Amino acid sequence: MMGVMNAIQILVMPSIVTTVKQIGKSGRKVKVVENNPVLDTVVLGNCLDVMANMADNSVDLVVTDPPFGIVNRESQGLRNLDKGSADVVTVDINQWLPEVLRVLGDGSFYSFCGLNQISEIYNTLVDNGMAVRFGAWKKTNPSPMNGDKIWLFGLQPIIYGKTRGATFNEHCSTLLFESKVVRGVPHPTPKSVEIVTKLILTSTNEGDIVFDPFMGSGTTALAALSCGRRFYGCDINEDYITLTNERINKVRSWPPQLEMEL
Ligand SMILES: C[S@@+](CC[C@H](N)C(=O)[O-])C[C@H]1O[C@@H](n2cnc3c(N)ncnc32)[C@H](O)[C@@H]1O
Repeated sequence: MMGVMNAIQILVMPSIVTTVKQIGKSGRKVKVVENNPVLDTVVLGNCLDVMANMADNSVDLVVTDPPFGIVNRESQGLRNLDKGSADVVTVDINQWLPEVLRVLGDGSFYSFCGLNQISEIYNTLVDNGMAVRFGAWKKTNPSPMNGDKIWLFGLQPIIYGKTRGATFNEHCSTLLFESKVVRGVPHPTPKSVEIVTKLILTSTNEGDIVFDPFMGSGTTALAALSCGRRFYGCDINEDYITLTNERINKVRSWPPQLEMEL
């Protein structure tokens, strides 16, 4: 019992993430973890405060999914979905993205995003010297809401940027995915563990560190765990940190594919 309690405790005070770079056997630059008690945990907090405690160039990959700020909105008399606080913008892109790119340094960045966020994220990635591509998740079972009045919202944009030296383990592939909307996870906007796992496998190697500043239900953490990567992340909502810890603990105590099927 005590062990379980310890495992699902919520870390509120993040410690400093310290890494150094060295040249690996292959000649590739690798980020090496030093003195880092917070890896493979999620912490409760505003991502700006959490990142303020992280060193430059301390993670290999960012996979994230900020609040879009458009889903809850009413438009032209159409019924609107209610995503609650998960859709409320608490920090602007021009506040969190430069910080994300600072802690990333050399590496890759993916973000699910709203249509309203694409240009600002694109411009910031390009201004930071990244090569950028767009992708999308085609939802095979989109919400039928307003289906008799307008086209369904079946495409979720994904934006990707990479620095010159970042890992890329794919060949001639597009950033396009088809999968179902995730149901049965008590969070309003969970993403697909399978899609995020694919992104992680493409842009990291075993043992690399994946960071998500808007962790939600813990999709990025689960995906990282399932393929032998380290992770770190945060969410501003305590319920979602508890949910992430519960999902992580199931994966740690059961074969990962059981969780992947949920
Ligand atoms: C779109 S959801 C992420 C969903 C996640 N990708 C998943 O698969 O469950 C955005 C999350 O960001 C969190 N959030 C909002 N503002 C935040 C902030 N300033 N710092 C950290 N997390 C924040 C919300 O609580 C919400 O869970």
